[in-house]
Amino acid sequence: RPRVLSGIQPTSDSFHLGNYLGAVRNWVAMQQTHDCYFCVVDLHAITAGHDPEALRRRTRVSAAQLLAVGIDPEESALFVQSHVPEHAQLAWVLSCITGFGEASRMTQFKDKSAKGGVDRSSVGLFTYPILQAADILLYQADAVPVGEDQRQHVELSRDLAQRFNSTFGETFTVPKAFIVRESAKVYDLQNPTAKMSKSASSPAGVIDLLDEPNRNAKKIRSAVTDTGREIVFDPENKPGVSNLLTIYSALTGRTIDELTTAYEGKGYGDLKKELGAVVADFLTPIQKATQEYLDDPAELDRVLAIGAEKARRVAAPTLAAAYDKVGFLPPA
Ligand code: TYM
Repeated sequence: RPRVLSGIQPTSDSFHLGNYLGAVRNWVAMQQTHDCYFCVVDLHAITAGHDPEALRRRTRVSAAQLLAVGIDPEESALFVQSHVPEHAQLAWVLSCITGFGEASRMTQFKDKSAKGGVDRSSVGLFTYPILQAADILLYQADAVPVGEDQRQHVELSRDLAQRFNSTFGETFTVPKAFIVRESAKVYDLQNPTAKMSKSASSPAGVIDLLDEPNRNAKKIRSAVTDTGREIVFDPENKPGVSNLLTIYSALTGRTIDELTTAYEGKGYGDLKKELGAVVADFLTPIQKATQEYLDDPAELDRVLAIGAEKARRVAAPTLAAAYDKVGFLPPA
């Protein structure tokens, strides 16, 4: 079976619909066909300032949500990044074959450092994509299911794998981004030309999976739509309506064509009202299941410990091979 690795940051108390539709939904599906490793990337979550208690809570909440939406810990390895020390160890080696200019070209670093300025950004934020490459390469992943905003980071991990292999000898599988076009970028409900984002969007623009279903339905009903009244899929000229159709289609499995036909002659209000109900119905069981996992933290931690053990069984030999290739003397 081809191998999959992906990760998600525990930087908020809930994932949002963009995380789910852009990435996590595909993780769940790929469990049928791939050998899967999924990690809650807590090392990445400390690159821009954080509260330790919140991080601990959010790490568990993240794992609980992944289980609730259908990550099966029997099928896949579900683990916390910091439980597998090989991630940080390989990241160091990869940082030594990454060019300073190459790292400087990462657009997410440029965006995230723009607010406070580069001088105030941590070195960890700068080297973040190198740690991400280590996450991917440690598992010899063939495919990395992510949203569109992670494409450049996966490209970097490909470049680093190829560079390491050609410099030191065949060691790493060269991974490919797995991006499902239809839902690769879910947009902010209030600003439908920007992506839905935990850091950049206003609360009204984001559907948090764990927020009250009725409040989320209301956010859908208040979504910014476009001039005109026709319900057509036209991302260029009608980004608001098109985003709603994307979400609708992804949550129900109905194609965009089916939806636009069904809504012929109806108005934006009908679409938003009905999609609001779809979203609320979708979230209710996920919230219940998440809460059940959180109610038993000892069991949750046990599942994560098993996941970390599975992960180390692959990560440790990969790191050992890389250490050997670069010429580190093995401990006697
Ligand atoms: P993170 O935690 O920001 O987001 C998790 C996943 O959600 C996707 N995503 C979206 N997809 C569609 N529309 C949106 N509006 C949207 N917002 C977020 C992201 O593309 C991502 O797939 N650097 C990564 C975490 C990471 C990782 C890895 C991913 C660390 N190591 C190794 C893959 C492999 C990140 O910040 O994701």
